[in-house]
Amino acid sequence: MSSSTMCRKVEHIELALIDEMTYENNCSSIYSDIMLVHQAFPGVSFREVKLTTNFLRYSLEAPIVIEGMTGGHPATAEINEKLALLASKAGVALGIGSQRALIENRSEEVFKTYKIVRDAARDIPVIGNIGITILGKYSYSKIAEVISSIDVDALAVHLNPAQELIQPEGDASFTQDLLSKLADLRKEIAIPIIVKEVGTGLSMEVAEAFAKIGIEIFDVAGACGTSWIKIEGARARRARDLLRAALAEELSSWGIPTPISVIECRYAVPRSIVIASGGVWSSYKAAVNIALGADLVGIARPILKALFNGGIEKGLEYLRLFTEGLKALMFLTGSSNVLELKRKPVYIGSRILSYMRSRGIDIDAYLANKGG
Ligand SMILES: Cc1cc2nc3c(=O)[nH]c(=O)nc-3n(C[C@H](O)[C@H](O)[C@H](O)COP(=O)(O)O)c2cc1C
Repeated sequence: MSSSTMCRKVEHIELALIDEMTYENNCSSIYSDIMLVHQAFPGVSFREVKLTTNFLRYSLEAPIVIEGMTGGHPATAEINEKLALLASKAGVALGIGSQRALIENRSEEVFKTYKIVRDAARDIPVIGNIGITILGKYSYSKIAEVISSIDVDALAVHLNPAQELIQPEGDASFTQDLLSKLADLRKEIAIPIIVKEVGTGLSMEVAEAFAKIGIEIFDVAGACGTSWIKIEGARARRARDLLRAALAEELSSWGIPTPISVIECRYAVPRSIVIASGGVWSSYKAAVNIALGADLVGIARPILKALFNGGIEKGLEYLRLFTEGLKALMFLTGSSNVLELKRKPVYIGSRILSYMRSRGIDIDAYLANKGG
């Protein structure tokens, strides 16, 4: 691994833990325009409410993915091992941070930081990760070989144009040919591919383009949580790259908020699996996004924060509260399982309805089909 890739991973973790590196108010005004409907007679016993969810041929205890964060630098091996133990204990899916470092440097030291995840977590789905731009630099066979070596159940391919734009050493070439390259990689590897953003949201147009080459799982990573524009902006300031730092300020609220991105993806690719992530940091936000059509939710920053503040125990405590809250909201909306919550009525305010109309979304069709 080049030393710059190595340092960047550690710097990303340090910066991601700073509160200012998130979207302002975490989309509170968007969430206040959406409401779940309380049912005074839920028609179900709280004890019967089930969060169990099938994903990538595993049965999860809850519809949760701990999003891909790290790997590569030797210091990240311990973080990845803890994340794996946490995810395994909680029975949720786990993403690993980008394998770019391993594609660049196949040393045992780098390999260990990724492989440690599968070694510590045999009973949950583990998701590999690359950025789409790497497809322009390395052969499919090399990428496929690296992914297969760490024994993952799916590969997340991230689209991060805003991050690459601000990143001092970024590569912002997201050309059309990458679509056919991804289609070719898909034929080369035997596992499903998830297309994800990293915190700026997926639009209908992007979901449709990737669905056309056979992608069936989308992780929206919307603009409500961790902000890579702000993180890379802070790095640009440190590197005295004043133009990029100023651009980051200018774009600090750019992106598609998570609930809007869920609506866009659910409408554009109705038969796909949609993961709601990007500031989905409370059970209420999780329930809202599922009722808007998401199948699962993804969480990154709060899990990392919990691990740093109190280890696996603190992470488990966070997930316990999250899942109990989700179960309570399912009960109070009269949903005995996640699919039922997906089908429940949801109030959408005039601002979002007007956005949907201006985007050409047939609101009645969306509401009728959001539950699958
Ligand atoms: C420290 C850190 C490192 C990350 N590294 C990656 C990565 O390597 N690849 C990727 O696709 N996303 C990466 N992400 C983005 C997350 O997977 C997720 O999409 C995003 O942070 C939104 O979730 P959140 O708002 O809950 O943090 C990273 C996030 C964090 C906090």
